[in-house]
Amino acid sequence: MRIDILTLFPNMMRMFFDESIISRAQKKGLVEIVLHDLHDYSLTRYGSVDDYPYGGGAGMVMAVEPLANCIEDLQSQRTYDDIIYTAPDGELLSQPVSNTLSLKQNLMILCGHYKGVDERIREHFVTREISIGDYVLTGGELATAVICDTVVRLIPGVLGDEQSALGDSFQDGLVAPPEYTRPADFRGWQVPQVLLSGDHAKIQQWRYEQALQRTRERRPNLLNENE
Ligand code: ADE
Repeated sequence: MRIDILTLFPNMMRMFFDESIISRAQKKGLVEIVLHDLHDYSLTRYGSVDDYPYGGGAGMVMAVEPLANCIEDLQSQRTYDDIIYTAPDGELLSQPVSNTLSLKQNLMILCGHYKGVDERIREHFVTREISIGDYVLTGGELATAVICDTVVRLIPGVLGDEQSALGDSFQDGLVAPPEYTRPADFRGWQVPQVLLSGDHAKIQQWRYEQALQRTRERRPNLLNENE
Protein backbone atom coordinates (compact mmCIF):
# COMPACT_ATOMS: atom_id res chain seq x y z
CA MET A 1 0.00 0.00 0.00
CA ARG A 2 1.12 3.54 -0.69
CA ILE A 3 -0.21 6.55 1.22
CA ASP A 4 0.54 10.08 -0.01
CA ILE A 5 -0.07 12.77 2.58
CA LEU A 6 -0.51 16.42 1.62
CA THR A 7 0.28 18.63 4.57
CA LEU A 8 1.54 22.03 5.67
CA PHE A 9 3.52 20.36 8.47
CA PRO A 10 5.52 17.43 7.08
CA ASN A 11 7.98 17.49 9.97
CA MET A 12 5.24 17.06 12.51
CA MET A 13 4.01 13.99 10.61
CA ARG A 14 7.48 12.55 10.08
CA MET A 15 8.00 12.26 13.84
CA PHE A 16 5.01 9.98 14.04
CA PHE A 17 5.72 7.80 11.00
CA ASP A 18 9.41 7.33 11.77
CA GLU A 19 8.68 5.56 15.02
CA SER A 20 7.23 2.25 16.13
CA ILE A 21 5.07 -0.17 14.19
CA ILE A 22 4.48 2.16 11.24
CA SER A 23 8.20 2.67 10.82
CA ARG A 24 8.80 -1.10 10.88
CA ALA A 25 6.02 -1.64 8.34
CA GLN A 26 7.72 0.82 6.02
CA LYS A 27 11.10 -0.85 6.45
CA LYS A 28 9.51 -4.23 5.66
CA GLY A 29 8.12 -2.70 2.45
CA LEU A 30 4.50 -3.33 3.51
CA VAL A 31 3.54 0.33 3.26
CA GLU A 32 5.09 3.41 1.74
CA ILE A 33 4.12 6.72 3.31
CA VAL A 34 5.14 9.77 1.29
CA LEU A 35 4.81 13.26 2.72
CA HIS A 36 4.25 16.26 0.46
CA ASP A 37 4.79 19.80 1.71
CA LEU A 38 2.04 21.95 0.24
CA HIS A 39 4.31 24.98 0.51
CA ASP A 40 6.27 23.47 -2.41
CA TYR A 41 3.20 24.07 -4.58
CA SER A 42 2.67 27.68 -3.55
CA LEU A 43 2.22 30.17 -6.37
CA THR A 44 3.63 33.06 -4.36
CA ARG A 45 7.19 34.11 -3.57
CA TYR A 46 6.48 33.75 0.14
CA GLY A 47 5.28 30.17 -0.09
CA SER A 48 1.79 30.97 1.11
CA VAL A 49 -0.97 28.49 0.41
CA ASP A 50 -3.93 30.23 2.00
CA ASP A 51 -6.01 33.30 1.32
CA TYR A 52 -8.87 35.37 2.72
CA PRO A 53 -12.35 33.90 2.34
CA TYR A 54 -14.63 35.41 -0.28
CA GLY A 55 -17.50 37.14 1.46
CA GLY A 56 -15.32 38.05 4.44
CA GLY A 57 -15.13 36.57 7.89
CA ALA A 58 -12.38 35.41 10.20
CA GLY A 59 -9.75 32.83 9.29
CA MET A 60 -7.98 31.81 6.14
CA VAL A 61 -8.88 29.25 3.49
CA MET A 62 -6.46 26.84 1.82
CA ALA A 63 -6.32 28.00 -1.78
CA VAL A 64 -7.46 25.85 -4.69
CA GLU A 65 -4.45 26.18 -6.99
CA PRO A 66 -1.57 24.80 -4.89
CA LEU A 67 -3.76 21.92 -3.77
CA ALA A 68 -5.02 21.12 -7.27
CA ASN A 69 -1.47 21.24 -8.61
CA CYS A 70 -0.17 18.86 -5.97
CA ILE A 71 -3.09 16.44 -6.36
CA GLU A 72 -2.83 16.41 -10.17
CA ASP A 73 0.91 15.95 -10.03
CA LEU A 74 0.38 12.78 -7.99
CA GLN A 75 -2.56 11.61 -10.09
CA SER A 76 -0.38 11.80 -13.19
CA GLN A 77 1.91 9.20 -11.60
CA ARG A 78 -0.63 6.64 -10.37
CA THR A 79 -4.33 6.02 -9.86
CA TYR A 80 -5.70 6.63 -6.38
CA ASP A 81 -8.41 4.45 -4.84
CA ASP A 82 -9.46 7.31 -2.61
CA ILE A 83 -8.56 10.93 -2.01
CA ILE A 84 -9.38 11.54 1.63
CA TYR A 85 -9.91 14.93 3.24
CA THR A 86 -9.76 15.16 7.02
CA ALA A 87 -12.52 17.38 8.35
CA PRO A 88 -14.73 17.54 11.43
CA ASP A 89 -17.85 17.29 9.24
CA GLY A 90 -16.69 14.08 7.52
CA GLU A 91 -17.89 10.52 8.05
CA LEU A 92 -16.85 9.30 11.52
CA LEU A 93 -13.83 7.02 11.51
CA SER A 94 -14.74 3.53 12.70
CA GLN A 95 -13.23 0.06 12.52
CA PRO A 96 -15.28 -0.87 9.41
CA VAL A 97 -13.99 2.30 7.64
CA SER A 98 -10.39 1.39 8.56
CA ASN A 99 -10.94 -2.20 7.42
CA THR A 100 -12.14 -0.96 4.02
CA LEU A 101 -9.23 1.44 3.61
CA SER A 102 -6.70 -1.25 4.54
CA LEU A 103 -7.64 -3.14 1.36
CA LYS A 104 -6.69 -0.25 -0.95
CA GLN A 105 -3.51 0.09 -2.97
CA ASN A 106 -3.05 3.86 -3.23
CA LEU A 107 -4.51 6.42 -0.86
CA MET A 108 -4.05 10.17 -0.81
CA ILE A 109 -4.86 12.09 2.37
CA LEU A 110 -5.23 15.83 2.43
CA CYS A 111 -4.78 17.38 5.88
CA GLY A 112 -7.18 20.26 6.32
CA HIS A 113 -6.11 23.48 8.05
CA TYR A 114 -7.14 27.03 8.83
CA LYS A 115 -10.84 27.44 8.15
CA GLY A 116 -10.75 24.58 5.66
CA VAL A 117 -10.05 24.19 1.95
CA ASP A 118 -11.61 25.96 -0.98
CA GLU A 119 -14.82 23.99 -1.51
CA ARG A 120 -13.89 23.26 -5.14
CA ILE A 121 -11.19 20.86 -3.92
CA ARG A 122 -13.82 18.89 -2.05
CA GLU A 123 -16.19 18.94 -5.01
CA HIS A 124 -13.75 17.97 -7.73
CA PHE A 125 -11.01 15.86 -6.17
CA VAL A 126 -11.94 14.49 -2.76
CA THR A 127 -13.70 11.10 -2.77
CA ARG A 128 -14.00 10.55 0.97
CA GLU A 129 -14.13 12.88 3.99
CA ILE A 130 -13.25 11.53 7.40
CA SER A 131 -13.58 12.93 10.92
CA ILE A 132 -11.93 11.23 13.88
CA GLY A 133 -14.50 12.53 16.35
CA ASP A 134 -16.96 15.25 17.21
CA TYR A 135 -14.42 17.84 18.31
CA VAL A 136 -12.31 20.32 16.38
CA LEU A 137 -8.56 19.84 15.97
CA THR A 138 -6.17 22.61 15.02
CA GLY A 139 -5.35 20.74 11.84
CA GLY A 140 -5.87 17.48 10.01
CA GLU A 141 -2.38 16.12 10.77
CA LEU A 142 -3.39 14.36 13.98
CA ALA A 143 -6.48 12.96 12.27
CA THR A 144 -4.33 11.69 9.41
CA ALA A 145 -1.93 10.05 11.86
CA VAL A 146 -4.87 8.31 13.55
CA ILE A 147 -6.33 7.14 10.24
CA CYS A 148 -2.94 5.81 9.07
CA ASP A 149 -2.31 4.05 12.35
CA THR A 150 -5.65 2.22 12.29
CA VAL A 151 -5.22 1.27 8.62
CA VAL A 152 -1.55 0.25 8.53
CA ARG A 153 -1.81 -2.13 11.48
CA LEU A 154 -4.42 -4.12 9.52
CA ILE A 155 -2.11 -4.80 6.58
CA PRO A 156 -1.08 -8.47 6.75
CA GLY A 157 2.41 -8.82 8.17
CA VAL A 158 2.48 -5.47 9.96
CA LEU A 159 1.60 -6.87 13.37
CA GLY A 160 3.70 -9.84 14.47
CA ASP A 161 0.71 -12.08 14.87
CA GLU A 162 -2.06 -11.42 12.35
CA GLN A 163 -4.58 -12.83 14.77
CA SER A 164 -3.95 -9.95 17.11
CA ALA A 165 -5.60 -7.41 14.78
CA LEU A 166 -8.58 -9.72 14.33
CA GLY A 167 -8.97 -9.94 18.10
CA ASP A 168 -9.09 -6.16 18.52
CA SER A 169 -11.93 -4.36 20.15
CA PHE A 170 -14.65 -3.54 17.58
CA GLN A 171 -13.55 -6.14 14.99
CA ASP A 172 -16.45 -8.39 15.98
CA GLY A 173 -18.66 -5.55 17.17
CA LEU A 174 -17.55 -6.09 20.78
CA VAL A 175 -14.89 -4.50 22.95
CA ALA A 176 -11.93 -6.74 23.84
CA PRO A 177 -12.00 -9.08 26.86
CA PRO A 178 -9.51 -8.58 29.73
CA GLU A 179 -5.97 -9.97 29.30
CA TYR A 180 -3.47 -11.19 31.91
CA THR A 181 0.15 -12.25 31.95
CA ARG A 182 2.48 -13.73 34.56
CA PRO A 183 2.53 -13.94 37.53
CA ALA A 184 -0.74 -15.80 38.12
CA ASP A 185 -0.85 -14.42 41.66
CA PHE A 186 0.22 -10.84 42.44
CA ARG A 187 -0.45 -9.72 46.02
CA GLY A 188 -3.22 -12.25 46.12
CA TRP A 189 -4.83 -10.77 42.98
CA GLN A 190 -5.53 -13.91 41.00
CA VAL A 191 -5.69 -14.47 37.25
CA PRO A 192 -9.07 -16.11 36.45
CA GLN A 193 -8.70 -19.87 36.86
CA VAL A 194 -10.16 -20.67 33.44
CA LEU A 195 -7.18 -18.99 31.69
CA LEU A 196 -4.81 -21.38 33.43
CA SER A 197 -6.88 -24.46 32.57
CA GLY A 198 -5.42 -25.12 29.12
CA ASP A 199 -8.95 -25.86 27.85
CA HIS A 200 -9.09 -23.71 24.70
CA ALA A 201 -12.79 -24.14 24.04
CA LYS A 202 -13.59 -23.02 27.58
CA ILE A 203 -11.17 -20.08 27.30
CA GLN A 204 -12.77 -18.95 24.02
CA GLN A 205 -16.20 -19.14 25.60
CA TRP A 206 -15.04 -17.19 28.68
CA ARG A 207 -13.44 -14.49 26.50
CA TYR A 208 -16.60 -14.15 24.45
CA GLU A 209 -18.76 -13.81 27.56
CA GLN A 210 -16.38 -11.23 29.06
CA ALA A 211 -16.36 -9.24 25.81
CA LEU A 212 -20.15 -9.32 25.68
CA GLN A 213 -20.49 -8.25 29.33
CA ARG A 214 -17.97 -5.41 28.91
CA THR A 215 -19.71 -4.21 25.78
CA ARG A 216 -23.04 -4.21 27.59
CA GLU A 217 -21.55 -2.21 30.47
CA ARG A 218 -19.29 0.21 28.61
CA ARG A 219 -20.49 0.53 25.02
CA PRO A 220 -24.10 -0.70 24.76
CA ASN A 221 -24.50 1.33 21.56
CA LEU A 222 -22.33 -1.29 19.79
CA LEU A 223 -24.84 -4.01 20.65
CA ASN A 224 -27.82 -1.99 19.48
CA GLU A 225 -26.10 -1.36 16.15
CA ASN A 226 -25.72 -5.11 15.63
CA GLU A 227 -29.33 -6.00 16.29
N1 ADE B 1 -9.84 18.64 11.44
C1 ADE B 1 -10.26 19.37 12.48
N2 ADE B 1 -10.97 18.61 13.32
C2 ADE B 1 -11.00 17.36 12.81
C3 ADE B 1 -11.58 16.13 13.22
N3 ADE B 1 -12.29 16.02 14.34
N4 ADE B 1 -11.41 15.06 12.44
C4 ADE B 1 -10.71 15.16 11.30
N5 ADE B 1 -10.13 16.28 10.86
C5 ADE B 1 -10.27 17.40 11.60
